[in-house]
Amino acid sequence: METILLRVKDPKQDISAIQAAASVLRKGGLAAIPTETVYGLAANALDPKAVAKIFQVKNRPADNPLIVHIAELDQLPSLARNIPQAAYDLADAFWPGPLTMILPKQDCIPDIVSAGLDTVAIRFPSHPVASAVIRESGLPIAAPSANLSGSPSPTNARRCVEDLSGKVEVIIDGGDCSVGVESTVITLADNTPRLLRPGFVTLEQLCSVLGNVAVDKAVLYKLEDNTKASSPGMKYKHYAPKAKVILLDGETDAFVQFVNNLEEKDVWALAFGDEAARLNKPFLLIGNTPEEQARNLFERLRELDDKGAKTVYARCPKKTGVGMAVYNRIIRASAFAIQKL
Ligand code: TXA
Ligand code: MG
Repeated sequence: METILLRVKDPKQDISAIQAAASVLRKGGLAAIPTETVYGLAANALDPKAVAKIFQVKNRPADNPLIVHIAELDQLPSLARNIPQAAYDLADAFWPGPLTMILPKQDCIPDIVSAGLDTVAIRFPSHPVASAVIRESGLPIAAPSANLSGSPSPTNARRCVEDLSGKVEVIIDGGDCSVGVESTVITLADNTPRLLRPGFVTLEQLCSVLGNVAVDKAVLYKLEDNTKASSPGMKYKHYAPKAKVILLDGETDAFVQFVNNLEEKDVWALAFGDEAARLNKPFLLIGNTPEEQARNLFERLRELDDKGAKTVYARCPKKTGVGMAVYNRIIRASAFAIQKL
């Protein structure tokens, strides 16, 4: 298959690109599109054959359900049922934006989308290209991150091309994603709202709207091999570059000293920035604030592979606010190899 790459700066100006992607989706094809979090691999959520192509192209395990994306709040009741007031309160506060809600599903959601669960994940993205494509298609759109399963999510079109060229009809280049990590996932399908995946919408923000929000154990800790994951995606080794990543949990000075004393070959450091001038090993930076770290993390992990890094010693982000999302991704990238300094 030949993949068409279309650049969209402003969806109002580049209408033909939006129409092209929407037409591919209506015909049961696949389109990689930018969202504010990461690029998504989109298909018609109501067409099981189109959705099957997503699983095939990504090599995604069949038990990992997909998020359904909407462009109007009015679409929600046709996709989910028993919608609690909490969902509308969250929609009011954070939609359109990087928040996904798990709700009981309507029958129109194919089993392949929900991976056989009786719930569905819904997100209303804020990226102008994503919303224009969804609106133009007139469909709810299933879209996981547009990477091959296991590798870091793409935050620019170049990485989508790397993973998906020849496998999808169209890739829309809408520039770099502003958030950089996938949406916050919260389930409202049980008695207590529970955070399943941290993101740019923080636990603290969710609590300010809902009062109490539980945090699933898989957010901060490794699940035992025989436990059932509430969010199936959380059980897979994820976001991982080919290099071995080791997370160093400690103060800045201890990090600098540890890295500088390493004698292994092809060692790289993944640093914040404030310590960079003192490092005597090659390094890449993700930034000093949690927001910068979120925006840069996945791209830096891919760059480390491009550089041929064999082992990467990474600084440990803080676990609160947006830092929780960065920490959640980096502990998976390191397959939970965390070393206390
Ligand atoms: O920001 C995002 O959410 C991006 C963009 C493209 O929108 N999408 C994304 O999709 O990250 P994906 O498939 O890479 O991650 C979806 C996560 C997985 O961890 C999956 O297990 C979980 O959401 N999920 C989906 N449906 C679920 C359900 N019914 N119950 C529990 N978890 C669910
Ligand atoms: Mg993903």
